[in-house]
Amino acid sequence: MEDSPENLIEEEECDSDEKPRYNTPFRSTRLHIQRSNVCSRAYFVVVMVFFHVYILNVIALLLYVHYNNGPGDLVSGDGGSSSGPASDSGASLPHPAPSSRELHEEYSQTFSLPRFEGIRVGHVQQVSLGSDRTHEMKTLSLKPLLFEIPGFLSEEECRVVVQLAQLKGLMDSQAAASSPGQVESNQPLLSLSTEEIFSLLDLNQDGLLQKQEIVSHSRSRDGTWLSPDSLRQILTGLDTCPTGVLTLADFRRVYDPSSRPEKQKKGKTHRQFKQRSKHTWLYQGPGSHHVLYTLRNRVASLTRLPSPLVELSEPLQVICFEHGDFSNAHHDSSPSHPETTCAHTRLAGNLSSLTEVSCRYLTMLFYLSSVEEGGETTFPVADNRTYEEQALVQDGVDLTDTQETCGRGNLRLKPTVGTALLWYNHLSDGRGWMGELDEYSLHGDCPVRRGVKWLANSWINVDPDHLQQERYQRLVAERHRATSGMEEHYRPLSHSDLHQDL
Ligand SMILES: *[C@@H]1O[C@H](CO)[C@@H](O)[C@H](O)[C@H]1NC(C)=O
Ligand SMILES: *[C@@H]1O[C@H](CO)[C@@H](O)[C@H](O)[C@H]1NC(C)=O
Repeated sequence: MEDSPENLIEEEECDSDEKPRYNTPFRSTRLHIQRSNVCSRAYFVVVMVFFHVYILNVIALLLYVHYNNGPGDLVSGDGGSSSGPASDSGASLPHPAPSSRELHEEYSQTFSLPRFEGIRVGHVQQVSLGSDRTHEMKTLSLKPLLFEIPGFLSEEECRVVVQLAQLKGLMDSQAAASSPGQVESNQPLLSLSTEEIFSLLDLNQDGLLQKQEIVSHSRSRDGTWLSPDSLRQILTGLDTCPTGVLTLADFRRVYDPSSRPEKQKKGKTHRQFKQRSKHTWLYQGPGSHHVLYTLRNRVASLTRLPSPLVELSEPLQVICFEHGDFSNAHHDSSPSHPETTCAHTRLAGNLSSLTEVSCRYLTMLFYLSSVEEGGETTFPVADNRTYEEQALVQDGVDLTDTQETCGRGNLRLKPTVGTALLWYNHLSDGRGWMGELDEYSLHGDCPVRRGVKWLANSWINVDPDHLQQERYQRLVAERHRATSGMEEHYRPLSHSDLHQDL
């Protein structure tokens, strides 16, 4: 009620002031500031100032965008998602020339994990596999982020990998089934002699067991053929060995197969992982077969992950699915809990009673053979609108049971020799490191109906705790140095121990 007469007066003033304002600008301005009149000069000035600031902002933004898209991609180098390999718009650009930012680049490369962008399902991008090989990579799903690269391996290379696996020998990877229908999987998993176990652990076949070889076997989830307790037993034995390596004789002393603990128990709440296949592990480091070595380098070039991460990851797992063989849907990696620790960095962590789990940032799967019928890789919930663990088992339908429900999966891929799949088992944490487990990465192998399916898995192990990953890498580097100069390494250690005691 008070306002309306005031407004009227102001409006009147506005009109009536038009003429006198030229004569007494000062007075009228002050008057209008006080009343915040829409027609005042002060208001005009304020609007103009805002307008200019706005224009400047727009120009600054345009400049920022311009430099951000410029060659070198340096501005976005601090671990943002845009520093992923996909950011250079498909073209396989060479690495930016070294500059004053090199140090910073190196830093951010150590502490950030490049990640492809999917854009949309069906999107095709060119990727570089080193030595001027470029391939087409097609996005198959966004949840999980899954890509297909045809012709990643030649047929000849696939044949070599299969032969190497056969030479090494494959072992059953039957995992205990929880359903009462399958009794046969309760038989003892393996009956290997000590020599055989030694030979299987000896990845580079030099007749000695190095620590790294044992550590690379410490996978406690799927495909483990030595329990964590046995591995720990061997590791403790190795630590007491002054040479730092185990010969077969040492190994016999250290490892007692009769004391082999009963099969590992898994978490009570989780469904048992069921599978039937044969598998083996192939070492890919220096001195390994050149096809295996090249394969790993190709994985490193493609993913652009820091090379220590690729080098310290698990060996190549080769799996053979014969008629009727399958694996139920599962995750390759594990959600992180305070009470779990990554198997691969366990050395650098707390050895007390934590549960070991596999921590695998991404999976690269290589089809080493084509299958005549069946044997598809299924992603039951790929790009589903929502995901609920409870919805997986509903109305008597278990979507993880590939023997029964393979046909109902959202995405099924027929194995084609030489084709590679790449998917991320984890989301990004938003700061360039590995975040939560991507539940959508659930996948399994449908039963083979005709033919034999050979595939290989290359996993990149990353600890969600990047400090722990860092500690582990430093530890391995130290040990590496120690094996070349054992004496120098052990002396200072005992010295410091002595000082501690005194
Ligand atoms: C290891 O774990 C125990 C108990 O869980 C804890 O008391 C100890 O501080 C931990 N040590 C390190 C180095 O984290
Ligand atoms: C897949 O999405 C549908 C539709 O949102 C939903 O009803 C169903 O429960 C989802 N499946 C799973 C396994 O979450």
